Amino acid sequence: MGTRIVVVGAGMVGTEMVEILRKRPRFAIEEITILARTERRMVIDDEIYAVEVARPEGFDGAKFAFFAGTEGEAGASKEFAKEAVRRGCIVIDNGSDFRMDPDVPLIIPEVNPKALKGHCGLIASPNCSTIIMLMALAPLHRINPIAKVYVTTLQAVSGSGTDGIRELEAQQRAILQGSLFEREIYPHPIFGNVIPAIGSFVDNEHSSEELKMLYETQKILGRKIPVYATCVRVPIMNGHSMNIVVEFQNKIHDHIFKKMCDTLVRSPGVIVYDEPDKGLYPLPLLATGKDEVFVGRIRQRDLYTLEMFVSGDNILKGAALNAVQIAELLF
Ligand SMILES: NC(=O)c1ccc[n+]([C@@H]2O[C@H](COP(=O)([O-])OP(=O)(O)OC[C@H]3O[C@@H](n4cnc5c(N)ncnc54)[C@H](OP(=O)(O)O)[C@@H]3O)[C@@H](O)[C@H]2O)c1
Repeated sequence: MGTRIVVVGAGMVGTEMVEILRKRPRFAIEEITILARTERRMVIDDEIYAVEVARPEGFDGAKFAFFAGTEGEAGASKEFAKEAVRRGCIVIDNGSDFRMDPDVPLIIPEVNPKALKGHCGLIASPNCSTIIMLMALAPLHRINPIAKVYVTTLQAVSGSGTDGIRELEAQQRAILQGSLFEREIYPHPIFGNVIPAIGSFVDNEHSSEELKMLYETQKILGRKIPVYATCVRVPIMNGHSMNIVVEFQNKIHDHIFKKMCDTLVRSPGVIVYDEPDKGLYPLPLLATGKDEVFVGRIRQRDLYTLEMFVSGDNILKGAALNAVQIAELLF
């Protein structure tokens, strides 16, 4: 008998999750049930799924419940995650509601798989930008501990879910038709613009997205590393990129630099794509649809500091794939 799986959320991440589960049968699946707010049918890989309204009984008999609903009070995780655990599921949550809970492991399988040990049924997958950044930084941190990080992200509208894609498409259409912009979810037009504000401002200095990158990095790496992040929404459909300046504790002599680069080349889930003179460097379009995170433009800035450019698919490794890999680890 295979495993019964529940996916909560039928948006960008939920749909991708079902596609991945169908493509990567590392464990036999008996049935995938999709729960959301509204009942409907949807077609994924030519198969029709009946999306049911989420309710507690929907979790009975399932081994894994992957949560990809919206965050916060009206979101699915706050409403159903603990109930699903009580009903016997292992919950893997893509949202931020439980990430900083000390009883909830926050996992990137390639980075901190051991933190899964002794979990209490609820496991969190980090923020998309945190995952993409740490896929590049964690292998280096093992060789030369990180002292501090400066990162500027360029985040696609798919990071805001289906509504983000819809808003950029609507604004593109409006420009072509010469009609007025629609604007609902972003505080400024996103078409033809970049917005250095993601999430809400916690104080005058830090957005919630920037603080997620700081605190989640510290929890995953287990050290109080300062992460100075500036998170920017850009008018592209998919794929998050970031420029990272990272200062290490120990000097990066030539042989250490080589060792760090070689380690990145060998790191699972990372592709070093770094021949800028041939036009080969990470791009969001290159990373879209790929499981791996791309790292390039690797440069040494001074004896302690490296700079690099990184792109990854925020829906895949930044969310759905990471969550499925966590379940695979548990098997
Ligand atoms: N997009 C990314 O790059 C990304 C990356 C990392 C993590 N995440 C996280 O993953 C989650 C899903 O993101 P997304 O981009 O897929 O969002 P989305 O496209 O907006 O989809 C959200 C889905 O959640 C469902 N939902 C919302 N509240 C619910 C509730 N109370 N009960 C049941 N279902 C509910 C919605 O149902 P209806 O369809 O019926 O409205 C919708 O299908 C969020 O927590 C997000 O923070 C997203």
